[in-house]
Formats: sequence, C-alpha cells, structure tokens
Amino acid sequence: MSLQRNAGAVRRFAKVMKFAAWLQNLPNKLTPPPFRLIQIGSAYWQSRALYVAARLDIATTLGETETAAEDIAALVGAQTDATARLLRMLAAMGVFEETAPRRFRNNKMSNPLRADHPSSVRAMILMHNSETMSRPWYERLEEGVRNGKAPFELAHGAEMYEWMDRHPDFDALFAQAMDSVEALVGDRFATDFDWSRFGRVIDVGGSKGAKSLAILKQHPGLTALVVDRAIVIEGADRYWQGREDASLLTRLRFEAGNLLESIPAATSDRDIYLLSAVLHGFDDDTCVRALVNLGQAIGGSGARIALLEMVLPEKGADLPAASFDMQMFMATRDRERTLSEWHALFDRSGLVLQAEYRCRTLRKTLCQRRAGAQRDPLRAAPPVRHAQPRCLGQPNHVVARQVGPEQETQEVRRSTAEKTWIVAGPRLDGGCLGIEATDPGCRESANMRTNKRLAGALSGLWFPEYARRSPRGKPIGRAQDICIQ
Ligand SMILES: C[S@@+](CC[C@H](N)C(=O)[O-])C[C@H]1O[C@@H](n2cnc3c(N)ncnc32)[C@H](O)[C@@H]1O
Repeated sequence: MSLQRNAGAVRRFAKVMKFAAWLQNLPNKLTPPPFRLIQIGSAYWQSRALYVAARLDIATTLGETETAAEDIAALVGAQTDATARLLRMLAAMGVFEETAPRRFRNNKMSNPLRADHPSSVRAMILMHNSETMSRPWYERLEEGVRNGKAPFELAHGAEMYEWMDRHPDFDALFAQAMDSVEALVGDRFATDFDWSRFGRVIDVGGSKGAKSLAILKQHPGLTALVVDRAIVIEGADRYWQGREDASLLTRLRFEAGNLLESIPAATSDRDIYLLSAVLHGFDDDTCVRALVNLGQAIGGSGARIALLEMVLPEKGADLPAASFDMQMFMATRDRERTLSEWHALFDRSGLVLQAEYRCRTLRKTLCQRRAGAQRDPLRAAPPVRHAQPRCLGQPNHVVARQVGPEQETQEVRRSTAEKTWIVAGPRLDGGCLGIEATDPGCRESANMRTNKRLAGALSGLWFPEYARRSPRGKPIGRAQDICIQ
C-alpha cells in the first residue's frame, strides 16, 4: 500500500526545485571567480542588513504605504541617513522598492518580513541572526571544524536544547521560527502523504503543534497528540485559543515528554508517530536511543513512524541541503543524513524502512515500522509461484517489497518502465529473502527462496547503500550475471 499522494505534482515540484538549484548557481557561472568569491566572502553584509530591518520591523511599519526614509526612521526610532542607506542596500538586494529618491515601500520580497503577513519569516530571520545563533558561526566555527565539537556548545557552554531550557525568551523565538517554517513549505506535507489511513498522529518534538494542526485541517477523521519538552508544551494549548477554530482544537492534545526517556505508547496500527525535523538535531547514538524508544512505544501495536527529514544525496547535495547540514553541525553537532546513513540508524534501532515518500517540501517522509525480528518473513510472505530459471537483467523499474510479520509490504520505486521486480524479506541484509520478479510484458514470473549471498548481491546492485554498509551486501557480480534458479 503506497501512502504517496499527488505523485504527479510531487514529481513536477522536484524538477522545479532542481532547476531552481541550478539557477541559484548562475552567479557562479556568470561572475569571474575572484569577484564571486569576494561576493560570497561578504555575503554576511546582506544577512546583517536584513536582520536589522527585521529588528526595526520596517516592513510591518511600512505596511501598504509608500514612505519617506525620514518618516520611516522616525517611526522605528532610528537615524534618518543610516535608515535610508540601509533601505537602499536592501532595495538593491530586491527587498523593498525604492519608488523615488529616499522613498520606499514593501514589495513581494519584503512583504514576508511583516509580522502580520500570513507567510511571515520575520521570526526565522531574527532567530538565525540572533546573538545566540550567530556567535557560534562567527566565533567558533573554525574551532568546531578543527576538533569536531559543536560551535554552539563551544560558544555557550551547553548543548543547544539544554541551553534553551534555561533561556525561555530564545526558546519562544525558536518555536515561533519553527512555526513560520509552515509559511515556507505550506501544508504540502499534509496532503502529499496519505495521513487519512491513520486515526491518530503522535507528533513527537512537534513544538506548539503547527504541523499537527495542518494535518488535522486536511484530514477531519484524525486526532493529534503533540509531545515536546515541558517548556514548549507549557502554554501551547493557550497559544492556539482564538487563533484556530475551537472545533479543530478539540482534536489536538498536548503532553510534555522527553523523546529520550519515554514516549506515549501506541494503542493500535491506526497510530502514526510523526517526527519532523527532530532527529537531524541528534547525533547518531542519540537518534538510536530515540528510535529504540519509539520502537518500544509501538510495541506490538503495528503503529508506524513517519520521519519528515531531509535525505541528502550520497554526492552533490545542493546549497540549501548542504547549508542546513552545516547549521545542524553548528547548533548541535548533528546532521542531515543520506539514505544510507538513515538505514544505518534504523538497523541499529530494530526498525525497517517501509518506504520513502516525497512531498513538495525540502524534506521527505521516511515511513518505518518496527522490525519483526522473531518472525520468519517468508512464512508471512504471500504464496509464491515457482518459475522457470531466468536471467535478471538490470531492471528499469524496481519495486522492493519488504514483507514483514504483518504481511505488510515496502515499496521503493527506482524508475519507471514496464518491468516490476519485487524483493521480499524482513531485512535486505540478513535472514532469508524471497525475491519475486515479474515482467508484465511477457507474463513471466519467478520466485525463489534465496541465500544471503544472492540477496546481498541484488540489494547491493539495486540498493548500493546496503552494499556499502553491510559486509553481507557486497555485490558478487553484475546484474546480468544473476539468474533465478
Ligand atoms: C527543529 S524543531 C522541529 C519542530 C517541529 N516538529 C517542526 O517540524 O516544525 C525540533 C523540536 O524537537 C523538540 N525536542 C528536542 N529534543 C527533544 C526531546 N528530547 N524530547 C521531545 N522533544 C524534543 C524541540 O523542543 C523542538 O520543538
């Protein structure tokens, strides 16, 4: 069962994003390298100018008006000439419009700086450029790169969330910035994944619950439980009163909890845990601790986990993805991960990746469930048809179905063509695997019980990330050499 929704739109979005990444690189192609390097080296001038405009709240002050710099300065309590020059620089960057000498108004780019804009990113600009977040970048990054320690910890003497527990003002700004992420991504994560198959979302690390609310709005049959650190949950309920529809809020509950200690237990397979942008803030061992806790909370219920996280390509990440990864290093010594890195964590935690779903955001939904370690997966697999020996060529269209104790299947689509290949088994790197290959074109079908070696070979060929991390997953030949017998 695929939980992907709006597949066509999601594919088109991925293409547009790829094109946008290429366009963002255009200055590198058009500007002579020494000049471009100087631009990059002084890019912080731009972020500081933007930050000061956000601090002075110039965009909100301007609203729909066109105003002279001296009036703007008077309204925001700043010096006239300096304000005019700041706005001139921002207008040159495309933020604000200079309509006449020293007269400015909001434009498409400056509008989201307004506190009252529905897609306001003001909190995000304030948070990233705050002394708290920028000091580690300015003062401790080199040291962190030299010794691998988190610059945030070097600058503030504490791990980021621990530090935030003691600084409620910054914590509130952080939570507000996280909520404003919704402004960037909209509610696509709520529509491109089929949440309606479930009854309850347990949104762990869900902040004040903005993501849960977006899901509840799209899926009237769902309820949500948001779990976060006590300081975040405090007042979360009150925060939404009057901002959101009261009947919607009856389906939303909050509970303080620590993902690293215990998590509310799932009660049925209609529960799904959502962790959005939480694990990228943990190092590998902490992630495993969190995932093991989730596995325990799932118990025998058959509930799933949906991780909404970035999946970096193994090579050649684009600038937004690579920058987020560095921000994670700066803040928490943690990381955005590649698919093979995610797999390594799931393996250590007794979870299996059921499927990777794309949505129209920078992140993907990785859906997992608990591995059924004691069950023989082949007994749980659907009945098999034995086929004539035949050779497997490199498949064009790969669907890997992972058959687990509940007879549920995993799908991993690699590309499109008429051939369908199905790999069944609890784990691609261990135990027995059933491999079924069907070719709808010639109506041939083959199924086999295979040994770990061949399983490894196939998984190594089709899923190179398995080959890299698993000694059993070493490829033993080219795809053309592998025959089903
Ligand atoms: C980057 S924010 C993501 C917020 C939200 N899920 C989203 O996607 O916008 C990470 C969240 O994880 C929460 N968090 C971090 N450590 C936690 C822990 N040990 N237990 C519960 N929540 C935690 C933080 O308080 C924060 O709200």
